[in-house]
Amino acid sequence: MTSSLLQIQQLRWPTAWADTFGREAPLLIEIGFGSGHFLVDMAQKRPSANLLGVEISLPALDKAQRKIKTLGLTNVRVLQSDARYLLQALCSPDAIAEVFINFPDPWPKARQLHRRLISVEFLHLLATRMVPNGRLEIATDHADYALAITEALESTPYFRSRQATTFVTADHERLRTKYEQIGLDEGRTCHYYKFARVETAVPQTYPIPKEFPMPHTVLQSPLGLDEIEAGYGRFQFSQDDCHINFMEMFRAKEDSSLFVETYIKEEPVAQRLGLVIRQREPGNFVISLHELGFPRPTRGVQLAIGQLATWLVGLNDETHILHHNLLPEALSRKS
Ligand SMILES: C[S@@+](CC[C@H](N)C(=O)[O-])C[C@H]1O[C@@H](n2cnc3c(N)ncnc32)[C@H](O)[C@@H]1O
Repeated sequence: MTSSLLQIQQLRWPTAWADTFGREAPLLIEIGFGSGHFLVDMAQKRPSANLLGVEISLPALDKAQRKIKTLGLTNVRVLQSDARYLLQALCSPDAIAEVFINFPDPWPKARQLHRRLISVEFLHLLATRMVPNGRLEIATDHADYALAITEALESTPYFRSRQATTFVTADHERLRTKYEQIGLDEGRTCHYYKFARVETAVPQTYPIPKEFPMPHTVLQSPLGLDEIEAGYGRFQFSQDDCHINFMEMFRAKEDSSLFVETYIKEEPVAQRLGLVIRQREPGNFVISLHELGFPRPTRGVQLAIGQLATWLVGLNDETHILHHNLLPEALSRKS
């Protein structure tokens, strides 16, 4: 039996889910499955569906994986990821038949509100990846979050309630989740939302991120690695919604190269990776992406290599770029 735990670096943008599951079937996703009871129960009750559980918590993934193995379930997979990344990068339009979000973290403090998962924007992203009439079910026991979810669902043009009201406060059909039980035991009212994606087309404003060929830049410079290392200081660069933080520089012990730890944030992807400045022969350098951690060669990585090359050119009047395979904008000086 193959493992139910998917390796995120091995999943393509977008992923062909039928290949991952080994069969064509409607894809059902549970976001933030926690203890995994609901996910596993659904996998047992709906053998003709492909089930995907997404979680950020490793212990939760471990527990669910063990349950799936013990029960010998073949129609369920789990993935460690932020739900937004799963939806935008790994799911093509119309990929998902049903989505379940049970008791999402409420982030109750004013300064935490931006961390809440459900918003009008999130519903729009969700709608772009769901089939027409695809089902969305949300439940919460947090009164303030319920108000916000109600408002978001009532104002989105992309979903409609399948019930006479926006929500109900009792649902005896579904399996109780751990957080639902905690909420009920502590006397809180649960809100259950059962919605469907509208039939009309949804504007595709959340493009699937693109991967580019492995980027590199070749430079000529009279500088040596010692001088480059001495001239380096942490710096940042931003272009559109891509933010790059060039952090620590390390010198390889037995190799003629420098490694720059770099953080790149470009919705919906965030990567911490290494850029390498390698001296091929005196006077000749190549800047490329280190393969450590299987980074994705995104537009942000193109920009990062371009900006590191631009920084190097700025160190010395006789340093210049010989050739590169970057987007033209990667070498702009705008910051
Ligand atoms: C309050 S718990 C609810 C767990 C379970 N659904 C239940 O009802 O018992 C929320 C879960 O969502 C997960 N989570 C939070 N943000 C997430 C995100 N952006 N993507 C995926 N999972 C997330 C957390 O790790 C946590 O396990």
